[in-house]
Amino acid sequence: MLWVKSFHLIFLVSWYAGLFYLPRLYVHHAMAEDRATRERLEIMERKLFWFITPWALLTLAFGIWLWVLQGWGMQALWLNIKVLLVLPLIGFHLWCWKLMMQFRGGPNPHSHIWFRWFNEFPLLILVAVVLLVILKPF
Ligand code: HEM
Repeated sequence: MLWVKSFHLIFLVSWYAGLFYLPRLYVHHAMAEDRATRERLEIMERKLFWFITPWALLTLAFGIWLWVLQGWGMQALWLNIKVLLVLPLIGFHLWCWKLMMQFRGGPNPHSHIWFRWFNEFPLLILVAVVLLVILKPF
């Protein structure tokens, strides 16, 4: 069980490394004027997105495995709320893919200011989820 939890955390950290960096690339992309910089950022975004997607899937798979292994069932309110918080995080990951397609297809989907705020969302989820899973307040 501890091996499963260890890899749940290892995959989580790898996923989050990209969730913090990818929107940063979008900030620079939204500010870039010359074609060479935009093309280079497109390559970096694509490589990073497909690099972190397996870690996202493995974080979720090992989380569900832990859920089953520890026999929480549906009683643990902290775990139910945690999973409810993970859903918008999955949505954020998919939105990053959509934005990547929009950048590639044409004008900037949003301003660099918008992407700076967008960049903060995964941190809010991380703080809430870590407090929930460590403190298990309910
Ligand atoms: C479907 C998604 C997920 C499920 C079902 C899930 C389930 C679990 C379970 C059952 C545990 C073990 C709790 C314990 O032993 O006390 C755990 C540990 C943990 N999870 Fe998840 N998890 C999921 C996604 C995530 C995500 C997205 C994050 C971070 C944003 C996260 C952060 C953590 C942390 C930090 C721990 C370690 C807690 C400890 O060391 O006691 N999990 N997870």
